[in-house]
Amino acid sequence: MCYAIPGQVIRIQDKIVTVEYFGEEKKAINELENLQIGDYIYAQGGYVINKITEIEAKDILSVWKETFFELQEVDLRLSRLTFDKNIIDKKVSIILDKALENVSLSKDDFEYLLRKEDENTLQLIYKTANFLRQKYLKNSCCVHGIIEISNYCRCRCMYCGISRYNKTLTRYKMTAEEIAAAAVKAVTKFGFKALVLQGGEGEHYSIDELAGVIRKIKKEAGVLICVSFGEVGAEGLQKLYDAGARAILLRFETSNPQLYAKFHPQRNLDSRLFNIKKAYQIGYLIITGALIGLPGQTPQDIINDIFLAKELNAEMYSFGPFLPHPHTPLGSNNRIDSEEIFKTLALIRLLDPQNGKILVTTALETLNPEARRKGLLSGANSVMINVTPLEYRKQYEIYPDRMHRSKEISVQIEETISLLISLGRSPTDLGIS
Ligand code: 5AD
Repeated sequence: MCYAIPGQVIRIQDKIVTVEYFGEEKKAINELENLQIGDYIYAQGGYVINKITEIEAKDILSVWKETFFELQEVDLRLSRLTFDKNIIDKKVSIILDKALENVSLSKDDFEYLLRKEDENTLQLIYKTANFLRQKYLKNSCCVHGIIEISNYCRCRCMYCGISRYNKTLTRYKMTAEEIAAAAVKAVTKFGFKALVLQGGEGEHYSIDELAGVIRKIKKEAGVLICVSFGEVGAEGLQKLYDAGARAILLRFETSNPQLYAKFHPQRNLDSRLFNIKKAYQIGYLIITGALIGLPGQTPQDIINDIFLAKELNAEMYSFGPFLPHPHTPLGSNNRIDSEEIFKTLALIRLLDPQNGKILVTTALETLNPEARRKGLLSGANSVMINVTPLEYRKQYEIYPDRMHRSKEISVQIEETISLLISLGRSPTDLGIS
């Protein structure tokens, strides 16, 4: 995330440190050498990522202290749950009461909610999700940066604008130096604390090259690195982890094996899931999810998708709309209604109220310009900022007219911060409990 709040180390037990933030204690894994009690640090996704001086920390904390509690108040006010039970059907009210009382919902309950379309019920589902988000996770909102390092891809995902089907796209590949420079700038100039490096799958970079880039970034900047290069296999995952990557963004795209096989020629869901599970075993934080609105996908499929993401130990859920790209085999389909995605985000919050970080994806923002605000008020608590150099960004055309494709980083940050402040959210990630 972007502007994480520094915390002070108050206990160290082997690799686990306890950190204090404005009176709240959080635990994080430490991999830095020479960390001592009393030091000030930044943590991301449960990892200590760097140490800062006491003077610097106190400076930042004094600015934060004023706003930190004010923001919490605003959020509390906006997430209050008031509703008129008479305007919704009884079954919805029973299901939502269960969710509020921390009773597990069945897949049938979820499907019942997902099939609802009337405005009153939708508003109530969103509000309930937002209430649960506030209750368990308070007002912190993760803000990660993403660098799209290359649009070369060997895959034939039938929906994807950078797949091999798109013969009209100008392909690019950032050099190792360009990637490292963009990453270090994002951290040192703009204050990002977590960065996703994403690119099409294939041999256009070797794993050793990618590992080298990660080592270089980690040497020059304290940041949580998330990798997103498709299926790199067990050995590849281990090498990237050893180089310093600590999170992976790999969607399973759909939990329905038949749909998966249909839209990913020569691929299968098992191999996708193997990569995600292996990454978790190695120790990666998992960011995963699915596309919503694929042709032939049913409400049951979507419910299975959200359950699968949880089963895969998602630290962060990435669910977004399928947006047809004209130069792909699925190009002539229609765009889905954005309410279907807001509903999905809210249902994920009902499924994983206490832990999950839920992302408002750029695809959802592309579908609905109000998506960030609406998504954050429907259970989500995470957004991404595109920090790919502008000269490449337009070419990473997984779908057309991508939001933020020509916006300077500083403008995106300004817009994000002002939205978060208006909602009472702190752009911060205080890590694992
Ligand atoms: N619409 C929306 N998302 C897409 N992705 C690829 N193509 C599209 C599309 N047409 C998503 C995939 C992939 C991520 C990098 O981009 O889910 O995992």
